[in-house]
Amino acid sequence: MIITIDGPAASGKSTTARAVASHLGMAFLDTGALYRSITLAAMRAGIEPVEGPAMEELLSGLELSYEYVDGDARLLLAGVDISAEIRTSEVTALVSPYSALACVRREMVKLQRGFAEGRDLVAEGRDMGSVVFPDAPLKVFLKSDPEERARRRVRDFEGQGREVDLATVLAELRQRDEYDSGREHSPLITPADAVILDNSRLSIEEQVEAVVKLAVERRALLPGADEAVEVEETESAAAVNLSLADLLLPPEKLRGLPVPRMSPHYRAVWHILRGLFRLLYGIRFHNEEQSAVGGPLLVAANHIAAIDPPVSGTIMHRELTFVAKRELFIPVFGRLIAKFGAIPINRGKFDRVCMDLIHKRLASGGTVIIFPEGTRKPVGKLGRPKVGLGMIAAETGAPVLPLYIKGTTRLGRAFFRRSRIDVYLGRHLQIEPLVAAGLEGRDLYTAFGRIVMEEIARLQGEAGGAN
Ligand code: DC
Repeated sequence: MIITIDGPAASGKSTTARAVASHLGMAFLDTGALYRSITLAAMRAGIEPVEGPAMEELLSGLELSYEYVDGDARLLLAGVDISAEIRTSEVTALVSPYSALACVRREMVKLQRGFAEGRDLVAEGRDMGSVVFPDAPLKVFLKSDPEERARRRVRDFEGQGREVDLATVLAELRQRDEYDSGREHSPLITPADAVILDNSRLSIEEQVEAVVKLAVERRALLPGADEAVEVEETESAAAVNLSLADLLLPPEKLRGLPVPRMSPHYRAVWHILRGLFRLLYGIRFHNEEQSAVGGPLLVAANHIAAIDPPVSGTIMHRELTFVAKRELFIPVFGRLIAKFGAIPINRGKFDRVCMDLIHKRLASGGTVIIFPEGTRKPVGKLGRPKVGLGMIAAETGAPVLPLYIKGTTRLGRAFFRRSRIDVYLGRHLQIEPLVAAGLEGRDLYTAFGRIVMEEIARLQGEAGGAN
């Protein structure tokens, strides 16, 4: 799926596009950076911004590559990183005349469409929705008052330690907008089918949330939405030659790190439940020592019954944070689970607030349990992982501890025919080797999710099967 974000200079396109891409596990294309690179190359070669053989020659020999590293666009010209240089005021002052040239636009469109091939992409610029990706299922156009944009730009510059004056920045923005909107080829226009977001009234967070919400809705409407994930998976762990063994993290590395103390009421309920589960279901904990580690930890468990969260909690010697669907936050029960630190999640769409809360818990050394299959699955059928687990692991760097639960679907009959619950802890896994091998976005999240499910499947084997 392609999402286009267009708008005038300093309207927050890059910030929004980058955040949306990161939230949805998509790639991000900053096309302004490409135009800036051509401008820099032409300036260095002393070529004027006019059509002609000199410009054509420059374009045909241009060795420009665009990389997307750690959420940032890196531009390399003949192998040399020019990412900082393209942001200088000299380049900014000349980029509009160069980007108005038909020959420049022709090359850029080719390059941009090539980059989009086989990718989920958030592309930002001036003509993404109108010219380059006219069939994009979601087109966004960002608007905001020039004064507000200028103030924002000044703040950005100040953050970089650069002294600038508001009036100069405002004049420069106005001039560039005029130039970009008035040019003959691919002018800055609002595509007829674009959603217009006015961020003079929205914060960046609200804007990102709005785009993510729209994207999730539009994606669900695309033909073959269910199978799309399968088709879109271009890279996998196998493609970068990594397997489960490469992701193992020796628990010794995690020992000695601090573990937040259980709150007194959590500890009390934890002891009661452990006792109860023992008494009623003869619960057995396997490899329990794996939970005796410190630092942030993400527990990833299979999910077959509603009781799985408290059952998983009792094997962990750490206070677990659960993520529970918002519908469960009903008057009494909701208050109860909130008291135990449960985080509500809106399902069926990306929930940024929930994601931020998870980040916070992990940042303070906490433990969060995720059911990577998303919903409960029938016994014996481990499901495909959703992207959430990989996304959290990638963003926080927290190690993952796989957990396998067996026997929780048969509890109704427990009093008559003692049915046992077994909980297995697996080996700690880290996402870092997949990142280092160059996987990113959705490819990274699903590749990691699959390896975690592989470890859960191994535990199922250790348990002698699902039943
Ligand atoms: O987004 P930015 O300020 O980095 O863009 C720099 C210039 O590049 C902008 O003033 C016009 C040009 N540009 C363009 O013509 N078409 C695009 N799709 C993106 C940028």
